[in-house]
Amino acid sequence: MNTILPVILDDTPDHTLNAGRSERFIDALADVGWCVVDDFITPIRVAELRANLLASWEEGEFRPAGVGRGEKWELKPEVRTDRVCWLDPNQATPPVRFYLELMERLRNDVNRNLFLGLVEFEAHMAVYPPGTYYRKHLDQFIGVGTRTLSAILYLNENWQPEDGGQLRIYTDETDENRYQEITPIGGRLVLFLSARFLHEVMPARRERLGVTGWFRTRDMKHV
Ligand code: OGA
Ligand code: MN
Repeated sequence: MNTILPVILDDTPDHTLNAGRSERFIDALADVGWCVVDDFITPIRVAELRANLLASWEEGEFRPAGVGRGEKWELKPEVRTDRVCWLDPNQATPPVRFYLELMERLRNDVNRNLFLGLVEFEAHMAVYPPGTYYRKHLDQFIGVGTRTLSAILYLNENWQPEDGGQLRIYTDETDENRYQEITPIGGRLVLFLSARFLHEVMPARRERLGVTGWFRTRDMKHV
């Protein structure tokens, strides 16, 4: 089955998702649990978000990324060596606000179509300096089932397959030799069900930029 589904979105003046636009890739998500959307945002919006990211980088706002949550959080350079800067919706610059609004639209569209009950969104900007990686992992924390849908938007300019840095998604739980490799080209959005797909970020020859987010469901532990 062809699971790569590039969708060119119409370029409307407000650059937001129209009703019906997301239906095509939400169908793919429903079918196979993941999809790739090319030109999710326009090159101008990609450039704005990238400039925003690089400004935060220059300001020293990025930190080495860790694994785990709360008291279990730790640096594990054998697992991941990227650097991240969490987005604070209360201090969002216009490009970040634009991105968060798009994700809010997407959240509503996915809920309407797939009944996933997504209630929250959290995201960080990520920089993978040359040679860095994030080894094979799942985006859900053990015992905490709230991260449900992962969304990664790449911000790289003129990225070539030989630059490396592919996102490798393992598409068959029973066969680790089956995977798809996704080149992190600017404007490309990747969506996948967080609990279902092991994935990894291959080392790149160039600095690799993106925004990674997770739609969460309510934490049922406290109900
Ligand atoms: C992550 C992740 C993938 C990517 O941050 O959890 O898997 O392509 N990122 O950047
Ligand atoms: Mn991940």
